[in-house]
Amino acid sequence: MAEKAEEEEHNVLVELGSYKGKLRVVNSSNDSEDSAAEEIMLLWGIQQPLLSKNNAFVAQSSLQLYIDACGRSLAILQSPSSLGTPGVTGSVMWDSGVILGKFLEHSVELGTISLQEKKVIELGSGCGLVGCIAALLGARVILTDLPDRLRLLRKNVETNLYGELKGSATVNELTWGYNLDPDLRDPSPDYVLGSDVIYSEEAVMDLLETLVDLCGRETTIILAGELRNDAILEYFLEAATKEFIVGRVDQNQWHPDYCSLRVVIYILVKR
Ligand SMILES: C[S@@+](CC[C@H](N)C(=O)[O-])C[C@H]1O[C@@H](n2cnc3c(N)ncnc32)[C@H](O)[C@@H]1O
Repeated sequence: MAEKAEEEEHNVLVELGSYKGKLRVVNSSNDSEDSAAEEIMLLWGIQQPLLSKNNAFVAQSSLQLYIDACGRSLAILQSPSSLGTPGVTGSVMWDSGVILGKFLEHSVELGTISLQEKKVIELGSGCGLVGCIAALLGARVILTDLPDRLRLLRKNVETNLYGELKGSATVNELTWGYNLDPDLRDPSPDYVLGSDVIYSEEAVMDLLETLVDLCGRETTIILAGELRNDAILEYFLEAATKEFIVGRVDQNQWHPDYCSLRVVIYILVKR
């Protein structure tokens, strides 16, 4: 009986924020440490991420990555040689970025997300594919990253967002854990997006501080993460579940051609 109750608790399906699909709640226990540990056990136990292919949707040694989205062929410029510079990670695309971008496109098609005229902030945009797709889907997007990473990002926005657009895109610097530009927070964004932004233990608390600072009660956060390091993801979830309700999006709601057992998508709203 107790086992059945526990199983049902893991299968609690809810809608969170502006996302109209059903999500599996990660905050299943009152104790954030237990909730995070259970989520990691489930993900690594069921998905066995390290057994499947990584970088399946990207070519990190190429100068350009071509992706079809929103009726366009996007050409994302990359700088593979910069990847060798310590601390530089956003000079090439990562699977979770491609998957999040295609998830947004698919969700808008299904009607589970509406981005038209919505204020969207992307954190750690890197090469900018996710923000570009959100702008093509009608959002007013602000793509952000560290100050010395904005050149490639701006180039990609200019190269891909030409002609008539449903939405718009601007590029701003935003370093996690530092004072926010008030325009980013006021009015609070409808959506905050991030792909592969949970990857360094040192940055987890700064990222979380920015999420707490940036988001209002009506903000829906969508994060796509790479299942590389269980300890870092657990550390993030343990802290995040204290501030946010966290739901995992089942892969049957992702774009059918862009699924991966090495990636997870979470939706978060403030408690
Ligand atoms: C692994 S890359 C992911 C890039 C992109 N989102 C993608 O999916 O391809 C992580 C991104 O987070 C940015 N980043 C790392 N630490 C940051 C910080 N403290 N403040 C702002 N951005 C940061 C990096 O510059 C990089 O663009």
